[in-house]
Amino acid sequence: MQIIQDIALTKSLCRSLKQEGSLGFVPTMGYLHEGHLSLVKQSVKENPNTIVSVFVNPSQFGQNEDLATYPRDLERDVALLQECGVEYIFNPSTQAIYPNGFDTWVVPDKLADVLCGKSRPGHFRGVATIVLKLLNIVSPDHMYMGLKDFQQQRILKQMIIDLNLDCDIVACPIVREADGLAMSSRNSYLNPQQREKSLSLYQGLLKARELFAQGERDCGLIINTIKENIENSGGVIDYIECVDPLSLQSVQEAEADTRMMLAVYFGKTRLIDNMALKA
Ligand code: PAF
Repeated sequence: MQIIQDIALTKSLCRSLKQEGSLGFVPTMGYLHEGHLSLVKQSVKENPNTIVSVFVNPSQFGQNEDLATYPRDLERDVALLQECGVEYIFNPSTQAIYPNGFDTWVVPDKLADVLCGKSRPGHFRGVATIVLKLLNIVSPDHMYMGLKDFQQQRILKQMIIDLNLDCDIVACPIVREADGLAMSSRNSYLNPQQREKSLSLYQGLLKARELFAQGERDCGLIINTIKENIENSGGVIDYIECVDPLSLQSVQEAEADTRMMLAVYFGKTRLIDNMALKA
């Protein structure tokens, strides 16, 4: 297992790894859970070499967000990655990624104006910038990302097309706890009561699917039903929307590929989840 901090070393390592065949890449902010590990396992299965980055990216956190308290445990991450057969971890310092004088940003446009981009201004500018930097350093053939961050994955796919990058995104299914809560590093913030109530997100998404399967196509009505359940459980809704999966724009009439997207606060913890309306 090699844990590399240096950018130039990582670049030359990745160049030589690519001579052995395709290189898989999993970008993470650490504090890994089964969701991350499912991406890692898929990459290890599909590529002769896989590199995982562990970097808590300050530029994607807003001023009042949880950068300072974001959970970190590199030792544990390393052990988990080792068990999955990963041999290379890129773990740069903030100073190496954002040296003094850093002044160039990737600013996604319309896709970042909606949903999480609306409530977290600047978030996707930070995400797109760090991911482009990571792609330039690692030059992977395939980047593995989870569909829980549906908007992130969509924005980055568009960035790859728009900026002519030589990498594709392998979008992997959402991994859930046994009771259905989507796995997230932020779940660790929830107290036992919030954890129990947060199940209303998954239940809401299942209810939306059920309504769609019964023939309901009115997004307003589907959203209102779910809203009520979530609010009754104590969740404070940031957004619940039915969107087109490509444009991420809200739709009024549900179709098979319509995606139900939601972001809900339990206390200070903001959880996101999503599901296609058609099972
Ligand atoms: O999804 C995440 O963990 C982060 O947004 C990412 C892609 C690693 C960029 O910091």
